[in-house]
Amino acid sequence: MYAMLTLALLLVLGPQAAVVPTEQPVASYVHDSANAGATPFRGTAMWRAFHEAAGIARIVDDTVDRSLIDPRISDIFKGHDMVRLRRTLKEQFCYILHGPCDYSGRTMAAAHKDMGVQQADFAALVENLQAAMRKEHIRFDAQNRFLAKLAPMHRTVVKQ
Ligand code: HEM
Repeated sequence: MYAMLTLALLLVLGPQAAVVPTEQPVASYVHDSANAGATPFRGTAMWRAFHEAAGIARIVDDTVDRSLIDPRISDIFKGHDMVRLRRTLKEQFCYILHGPCDYSGRTMAAAHKDMGVQQADFAALVENLQAAMRKEHIRFDAQNRFLAKLAPMHRTVVKQ
């Protein structure tokens, strides 16, 4: 009987367990949405302009996909946990766009410490984000308002 139950459980859970992405552990840090590095917009207009959670997920995944094959910056991502990056970026964008999310990742300074990111790398990533936002048909004024929130982060992301 127990064997049958175990087999049934494996049959039900097995295929799902196989596709659940796993993250590598990181050193402990204080979880605080302020780690997102920007204050959220007010109201729901920006969240809606970005097509809510599904739109943000598409934009983040497309930005990361483009960056991973972008010869200007792809090397920087090698060896890093892209499962965690996609999750925390989605949270960060959702939080800043004033969606119903907390940001659980590290500060921009901690996440990019000793990575050696240059101003040109930052510009390349922003270009990839812009392409992803265009593909998602985000209104141009909303794109620019969002980019204005991210732009000051170059001070902590780019190696001084
Ligand atoms: C506005 C610009 C940027 C934002 C908002 C941003 C956001 C983030 C976030 C949320 C994380 C994850 C934090 C965590 O794991 O706790 C992260 C990590 C990372 N970012 Fe950025 N980032 C930016 C610019 C860049 C640029 C320009 C590069 C390289 C071209 C880059 C490469 C990486 C890499 C490789 C990681 C993984 C770090 C690790 O594995 O420890 N980021 N970034």
